[in-house]
Amino acid sequence: MSRSAHPAGPRHADVLPEGHYSAPPADLNDLDAKVWARTVARNADGVVTVGGVDVKTLAEEHGTPAYILDEADFRDRARAWRGAFGDDADVFYAGKAFLSRAVVRWLAEEGLNLDVCSGGELATALSAGMPADRIAFHGNNKSHQEIERAVRAGVGRIVLDSFQEIVRVAHIAQSLNKRQKVQIRITVGVEAHTHEFIATAHEDQKFGIPLAGGQAAEAVRRVLQLDGLELVGIHSHIGSQIFDMSGFEVAAHRVVGLLKDIRDEHGVELPEIDLGGGLGIAYTSDDDPREPHEIAKALTEIVDRECHAAKLRTPRISVEPGRAIVGPTAFTLYEVGTVKPLDGLRTYVSVDGGMSDNIRTALYDAEYSVALVSRASDAEPMLARVVGKHCESGDIVVKDAFLPGDLAPGDLIAVPATGAYCRSMASNYNHVLRPPVIAVRDGASRVIVRRETEEDLLRLDVG
Ligand code: LLP
Repeated sequence: MSRSAHPAGPRHADVLPEGHYSAPPADLNDLDAKVWARTVARNADGVVTVGGVDVKTLAEEHGTPAYILDEADFRDRARAWRGAFGDDADVFYAGKAFLSRAVVRWLAEEGLNLDVCSGGELATALSAGMPADRIAFHGNNKSHQEIERAVRAGVGRIVLDSFQEIVRVAHIAQSLNKRQKVQIRITVGVEAHTHEFIATAHEDQKFGIPLAGGQAAEAVRRVLQLDGLELVGIHSHIGSQIFDMSGFEVAAHRVVGLLKDIRDEHGVELPEIDLGGGLGIAYTSDDDPREPHEIAKALTEIVDRECHAAKLRTPRISVEPGRAIVGPTAFTLYEVGTVKPLDGLRTYVSVDGGMSDNIRTALYDAEYSVALVSRASDAEPMLARVVGKHCESGDIVVKDAFLPGDLAPGDLIAVPATGAYCRSMASNYNHVLRPPVIAVRDGASRVIVRRETEEDLLRLDVG
């Protein structure tokens, strides 16, 4: 279809239907630095480049859809977190956001530790050479095999999530003649202001042991009695995609309160406190995330103040950012397949991926931005909905966004801030093949996770 062959569709603010969008930006060719990876720019021909490579070349070499990851930006952000917290604290990158062996190596080189929450993540970490003592093992239902593997490998800590797990880990450690360092994950009863499915510190949910009713204190009593376990700290993770620091403040206050009770009851001052991850990033221009140094300062001050008031030595703080490190560093590159204007509504732009490479819009009503990246355009903005190729009408990647009105099949568009929880939550729905992850740096691109093939699919299907 030629660029002018389809009707214009809805364009102007006065005819727009209701939705989650602000007015179109003054210039659709502008790339808001808040949502794009740091080396992203538009070149003199109007084509977007990242790490010095243009997206047309990336699409030719690697195909679409593809997650394009800015390695320099990833390393910068990892380093910024590390530097902000300094040597008296630890930064554990949350592997669930996105994990691959290349990423593990970058983290190891940049001095970060790693949080894993399954045997698969542990295997990836170990196979890429992350020292086991820099790994924390999480999860509300770790299997016997997973625990045994983690203990054998010598992981730096296992984060205990239930009374039954306390006994399980102690038993396994003892049977291996080891004393395993552990933290206890507690729920502090904070309502984090985020989507219900990614809030984790209220009591009515599956993670952690409630502080309420003395349950966390009871868990501490039991752990302290078991020879196979060495209790090193208390863990709290309040949720994800959080901008408001007040939730952390309340959480720190309550965790320190527990540390004080432990000191009073058992005469032990636990050396560590982990405040989890959950710091928000910008998905659209409306989001205003904080910088790592501001977060580090705020968290350190809160813990210092609370400990001072409780007459406790300040424990070593750790945090577990996932999204805030990898999220902004990648975008998903798609090719436009069909463009369908619906009069008085919006224009549906179908791309060659969809909910199989980004489930977050369908699952959390997440908002994303999008831009035409293979060329610049001066056409009028049109209200668009970017949808995938799956057999389901909820297959939406970007619910409401403005794209140039001359968008046509074959154009490349990109959705920024897809580095976290997109590849890691990708599926094979409709037997669509999961996209590759391409790392770009200093004018060169390389595949760090290859595209899935039909052979991969059929290999699992043993007939
Ligand atoms: N630590 C613990 C114990 C966690 O459970 C999580 C995330 C993190 C750290 C990292 O949180 P982050 O800094 O990445 O927000 N799939 C959802 C997010 C689920 C997060 C689960 N736990 C999403 O796509 O928004």
